[in-house]
Amino acid sequence: MNRIAVIIGAVMLASCDAEPTGNTTITATRARMEPYVAVPPETLPRGTAAQRAALSPPGPPISRDLLAHGRNRYDTFCAPCHGVAGNGDGVVVQRGFPPPPSFHTGAQQALTRARIVEVTTEGVGTMYAFAERVPPEDRWAIASYIKALQLSQSFPIDQLPDDLRRQVEQ
Ligand code: HEC
Repeated sequence: MNRIAVIIGAVMLASCDAEPTGNTTITATRARMEPYVAVPPETLPRGTAAQRAALSPPGPPISRDLLAHGRNRYDTFCAPCHGVAGNGDGVVVQRGFPPPPSFHTGAQQALTRARIVEVTTEGVGTMYAFAERVPPEDRWAIASYIKALQLSQSFPIDQLPDDLRRQVEQ
């Protein structure tokens, strides 16, 4: 019995010795370094010229279609944390993610569309960037919708046209 165990042990050790040959190739491949190419001065490292143009202010004019599209994209990508109404209480936050500030308070009300687009592109604090998932046109649509969301909660009722005010006050 003992002798068999010794033989099995010896065979296993032998196969251990044989392994590194296979591994060396993988390790050597992983270790190969690409030369570092510095970004030339006066150039922007990311995106094409068309993408950058799509991101520059003032952005597209606000229209009903743009807002409808923005609402659709906001509900998909932003509401999980910011909440459908922008109160910072989305389902991800209810599961423990650090809450974003409500869009209806303080400095958040003064956010410009351009700033919202910038934050969506680059991320901020604990919020990751959406550059890979949300194309620039959609970022403007979302930013426009967030501004509309803010207005929906803060527009002074006495400045509404009479017919709208009656509806709101009903
Ligand atoms: C995973 C959760 C999460 C998602 C999804 C998310 N955000 Fe945020 N967002 C946050 C958090 C958290 C903060 C606060 C970050 C901080 O200050 O550390 C924040 C902050 C912001 C701010 C405030 C920036 C400022 O200058 O104060 C804006 C604007 C914003 N998010 C827009 C968006 C938009 C637009 C989307 C959808 C494309 C989105 N967020 C999706 C979590 C999220």
